[in-house]
Amino acid sequence: MNTADPDPRPTQDRETVRVELGARSYDVLVGAGLVEQAGRLMASLLRGRSAVVVSDGVVAGLYLDATLRSLREAGFACSALTVEVGERSKDLETLGGMLEDILGRGIERTTALVALGGGVVGDLTGFAASILLRGVPFVQIPTTLLAQVDSGVGGKTGVNSAHGKNLIGTFYQPRLVLADVATLGSLPLRERLAGYAEVVKYGLIDDPEFFAWLERNGAALVDGDRDLLRTAVAHSCRAKARIVAADERESGSRALLNLGHTFAHALEAEAGYDGSLLHGEAVAYGIVLAYRLSAALGLCSADDAARVAAHFREVGLPSEANALPPIHWNTSALIERMKHDKKVQDGRITFVLTRGVGQAFLSQDVPHEALRTLLDRAFGERGLSASR
Ligand code: NAD
Ligand code: GLY
Repeated sequence: MNTADPDPRPTQDRETVRVELGARSYDVLVGAGLVEQAGRLMASLLRGRSAVVVSDGVVAGLYLDATLRSLREAGFACSALTVEVGERSKDLETLGGMLEDILGRGIERTTALVALGGGVVGDLTGFAASILLRGVPFVQIPTTLLAQVDSGVGGKTGVNSAHGKNLIGTFYQPRLVLADVATLGSLPLRERLAGYAEVVKYGLIDDPEFFAWLERNGAALVDGDRDLLRTAVAHSCRAKARIVAADERESGSRALLNLGHTFAHALEAEAGYDGSLLHGEAVAYGIVLAYRLSAALGLCSADDAARVAAHFREVGLPSEANALPPIHWNTSALIERMKHDKKVQDGRITFVLTRGVGQAFLSQDVPHEALRTLLDRAFGERGLSASR
């Protein structure tokens, strides 16, 4: 299969990470200025010369013109549609509207859908691409740190349901991912921080040296240092590519990417997807809880748990419940949410636990009492109305 790098110009300012999935393998390019090259890079891979670019209102204002210009210069007939900013767009209603809108444009099976934006746009557009005409080519141009290091790579698509996050979706790989680190310059600090939680995750799963590197460089990275961002994005994409290549459909090791997520999804659902708790913020605190649970079960040391919490606190991510939005957090409600997680098997909740930094593993054997005690401690026995 083709790679996406026919460019005769020097590419030392760009790194290519290959996601090895046989006939569905693809490249993730990491570098600055890739938005402006999107058309040429796509033209080298795709048979068709038509595309629909999906974005949200904010990202469209920043990068849509450049994307469309680049596509047109490369010979694509293209149009764009935008969805409302935020997690609430990741629902069946928005998806339905998108599908009808795109079909109304008279697309063909070779028409590419291009996701230009963060994880919300990526998950939604990928899902649409996987079901439109039974599958059209899909290209990711992730513009948040979270999307560049995680959601843009690996082919998980989907929307949320009233029953929980990401419960409706598909595995559908993009044909190309363009992680343009220049776009991270316009990302608000809070969003960079949220994405940083997913970067830290790779260190904590199986790469203690990377975590130590992040302890040294994390503050400057979230501050926007482009070289550090590029290094971290490329490293994270390599880690994700390895994990996805080994277990594309999450029958085993890919589930390690859910470190902190069993807690995070429950926290996000309780918070109501209203922007008060970002996915990455919930992941940071979820990872802290996963470490504290592991320490309580005697699997890792209390020092490891404290080290991880200290790093999140130092960069400005939640490490205690009182840094969460001030709603009435309730232990029973959170546990009920966890019971509806996608990873529940035979009624048993799946957790990613750890034996130390870089030693994550899966467990379905967490005693209910240990979970309840942990959450009671975090939120208070009758639930906590946290204040900022
Ligand atoms: P998001 O898509 O809502 O983007 C965050 C905000 O940043 C939005 O307001 C957006 O308009 C803005 N933005 C995006 N790029 C910008 C830029 N370059 N400059 C300025 N503003 C910009 O959120 P996200 O954090 O990117 O993604 C979160 C979603 O990703 C969640 O729905 C989560 O479930 C999903 N996710 C999916 C996977 C997966 O494997 N598919 C993995 C992790 C997370
Ligand atoms: N973000 C989790 C995964 O891609 O599997």
